[in-house]
Amino acid sequence: MKIAITGATGQLGQLVIESLLKQTDAKNIVALVRDLDKASVLKQQGIETRLFNYDQPEILVPALVGIEKLLLISANEVGRRTPQHRAVIEAAKVTAIQHIVYTSLLRADQSPLGLAQEHRETESLIKNSSLSYTILRNNWYSENYLAGLAHNIESGLLFGAAQDGKISSASRQDYAEAAAAVLLGTGHENKTYELAGSTSFTQRDLAQFISEASGKSVHFQNLSAEEYTQGLIQAGLPEGLVQVIVDADVHTRDGAMFSESKDLETLLGRKTTPILDTIKSLL
Ligand SMILES: NC(=O)c1ccc[n+]([C@@H]2O[C@H](COP(=O)([O-])OP(=O)(O)OC[C@H]3O[C@@H](n4cnc5c(N)ncnc54)[C@H](OP(=O)(O)O)[C@@H]3O)[C@@H](O)[C@H]2O)c1
Repeated sequence: MKIAITGATGQLGQLVIESLLKQTDAKNIVALVRDLDKASVLKQQGIETRLFNYDQPEILVPALVGIEKLLLISANEVGRRTPQHRAVIEAAKVTAIQHIVYTSLLRADQSPLGLAQEHRETESLIKNSSLSYTILRNNWYSENYLAGLAHNIESGLLFGAAQDGKISSASRQDYAEAAAAVLLGTGHENKTYELAGSTSFTQRDLAQFISEASGKSVHFQNLSAEEYTQGLIQAGLPEGLVQVIVDADVHTRDGAMFSESKDLETLLGRKTTPILDTIKSLL
């Protein structure tokens, strides 16, 4: 059985491979990467690496020869993803991949997030491909909320625009283990899973968790979308990323990041990692 992972040198991809290695031999795993040098650590672990760039359709079919299961980790260039994913799905059809697994977005079919459109389009391409599939609709990574952790602790402030919106995030590790469970398990054909944390929190709770873990008082300050946008741009974040962050917070107010789905803990066979634990591991 050969399982291939796209984005294998990315953060999620590396964690998926670590999880797979705990349960299967390296010879069953193929890392699909756009930079073979970056994948040297994977090669040293006995994993076959193959060149795979979504923007070079001509190399995709040869790279998928002999692959039975494919994890398509969504690409990271917002606005370019549908054609990139389409190229991969077309190649998977040519080589008759037995099962394709795709990392989508929580409730992608109805999510108000700007990011949802490309996931909806990709899900539709997969469902119309006649390939057997599993859609992993991942909610936000807890790590997204902790990118400014050191600064939050130093300044004693956590800014956001989500008001009291609840967030059911989980750690990247949780989503990675769930993906590995689907790739190695059975009975996941043509299923769509809504993957979210076992518990939820508000940004105000998050400030309290950071205070608790660091021993330094951190306060949450809710901003308007405009104020938050200005603040993030002044802090030097790229405009595209700022749009994604602010859009996510605005829709968090209306429940876009909240879920009571138990799909993730069912796949994991345990509760997901509380964000307090993720904070502690980062500190
Ligand atoms: N749920 C969430 O909160 C959340 C947050 C952020 C992102 N995401 C989505 O989840 C995905 C995985 O997250 P992550 O944290 O692992 O992101 P990441 O670290 O940025 O990994 C993205 C991977 O995609 C690869 N890639 C990008 N463009 C490619 C191309 N043209 N051809 C082949 N490979 C390409 C990158 O290759 P290199 O290693 O060579 O750069 C990288 O390995 C992201 O790409 C994004 O779609 C979800």
